[in-house]
Amino acid sequence: MIIQPTDEALLQVAQALQSGQVVAFPTETVYGLGANALNQSAVQQIFHLKGRPASNPLIVHVASPDQAANVADLSGKSQIKARMDRLFPFWPGPLTLVLPKHSQISSLVTAGGETVAVRIPSHPVALRLLELVKLPIAAPSANLSFGVSATTAAHVYRDFGDSIPLILDGGACTIGLESTVVNLCEAKVAILRPGAVTRAELEAVLGEQVYVPESTTLNLKDAESHATSPGLHHLHYAPRTPLQLLSQVHFPSGSARGDSKLQRGLISFSNECTVLNREHFQVITTISQTADLVEIGANLFAALRELDQQGLDLIAVDSCADKGLGRAIMDRVRRARHN
Ligand code: TXA
Ligand code: MG
Repeated sequence: MIIQPTDEALLQVAQALQSGQVVAFPTETVYGLGANALNQSAVQQIFHLKGRPASNPLIVHVASPDQAANVADLSGKSQIKARMDRLFPFWPGPLTLVLPKHSQISSLVTAGGETVAVRIPSHPVALRLLELVKLPIAAPSANLSFGVSATTAAHVYRDFGDSIPLILDGGACTIGLESTVVNLCEAKVAILRPGAVTRAELEAVLGEQVYVPESTTLNLKDAESHATSPGLHHLHYAPRTPLQLLSQVHFPSGSARGDSKLQRGLISFSNECTVLNREHFQVITTISQTADLVEIGANLFAALRELDQQGLDLIAVDSCADKGLGRAIMDRVRRARHN
């Protein structure tokens, strides 16, 4: 059931979490599927509901840096602590930190690893809920595993129906791309998943170089090692319809064009791209008139979900420069490709 985040509803959802139920809630990045991170059977339900491999660890959400100290154990880890302190300006916000795990966090949450991913979301509904519940909340994105993340309550309902009794509606997510995941546990700070907090922003506050793996499209074998972020594997965000970058789509020319029965959809990043490609596509969704990266990020997943329901033979997606927020956008587009 989708419910509005009134004071009463927030209390009800907090109580549901305290009693071991799984609920969905909005964050500024994407919707989360949350459960008490200290309750093994609640956490198990998350994996079951999503069809998520047990090898892919969960992000633990907390309301404050103080609460993070009950999730991550930084005793004797002065370098990690110093880095974390420098990153506090991004909390609450779309930044997840991979830290040494506290002994009270079960290995189910961390997929057997010794590190735990922690985040303080900035969405007011998420923050209020975390303050009320007073527990660390394990929450992956609220979508079926290997599918496109949910950026509205309706997306969550479409994936799970009433198997999640409570879905808090906080409107459309303003960022629309999952958080930047940063590993602080190795000699070099590394971005495991690009997001709205960019490499340049991280480097500016850390005062050190931040490493970005050359290709974040890892194969499944790499993805299952705990040295990297297991959720980074290929096809992680794929719709069912085959998807290609617009620049790679082959259009039949001349007389062959009329014979082509292929139904193609396009996700366009600007009016210019829409106009240029009008004749080749049956459906065009323009997610920004002006190639505005914030707009593209916010609308991309909804557009992918929408076109995926139209029985098309192909979805083509426009491109933007692979830097800053554009890096996170192109990362998600590349992962959604079927080739
Ligand atoms: O924006 C977000 O991060 C959303 C909202 C709900 O907070 N959550 C999210 O969770 O995207 P999920 O489970 O869909 O993605 C979490 C990513 C996965 O790629 C996972 O492998 C990685 O974080 N991760 C989690 N724990 C990790 C750890 N200990 N070490 C390395 N990577 C980890
Ligand atoms: Mg996910």
